[in-house]
Amino acid sequence: KRIVVLISGSGSNLQALIDAIELGAINGQIVAVISNKPDVYGLTRAANAGIPSIVIDHRQFDGREPFEAELSKAINQLAPDLIVLAGFMRILNSEFVQPYEGKMLNIHPSLLPKYKGLQTHKRALENGDKEHGVSVHFVTAELDGGPVIAQRIVKVEDSDTEQSLQQKVQRQEHQLYPEVVARFCNERLSYQDGIAYLDDKPI
Ligand code: GRF
Repeated sequence: KRIVVLISGSGSNLQALIDAIELGAINGQIVAVISNKPDVYGLTRAANAGIPSIVIDHRQFDGREPFEAELSKAINQLAPDLIVLAGFMRILNSEFVQPYEGKMLNIHPSLLPKYKGLQTHKRALENGDKEHGVSVHFVTAELDGGPVIAQRIVKVEDSDTEQSLQQKVQRQEHQLYPEVVARFCNERLSYQDGIAYLDDKPI
């Protein structure tokens, strides 16, 4: 399968995917990495792995629509089977998302549907949650709202801080995302009418 990964930052999830592919755990290749930010470490990770990258800097565009037009042009030229959002921090319009429904994944650092949006670790701590975690979901027009494919739970200890919680969650992210991408590439995951399926059973 042809995979395109979209990033905005350090790309540790991108690295987890690169490593899993090198180990033969994912039946696919990353054909390109696209970043909306220049000079992020994820671009260095792509270069180190010999993966071509494209920067589409949202600040160079007059609003979201022209940015997204450029982004979809770049994606479509790459003819991907799967688009993986890995720390991609731009909100996407429904017009952009719709053509990719069922083939675009996102990872979000909370147990969705809890804590959509930003500052998830802080909110989990403030609410005194005993459990927190990470979700991988199909991307739909609703921000962090598409059907959940898989989650990993982490226990929240009294001693946890935002930073320690983030580290725990990220360790889980780096295991979970390659697993889900592997399942997708083996055609075990599918999507129809807002529902995610694993081996043809609704998740
Ligand atoms: C991850 O915590 C992911 O859940 C969130 O952004 C972060 C990206 O980290 N959406 P990285 O760029 O993969 O290191």
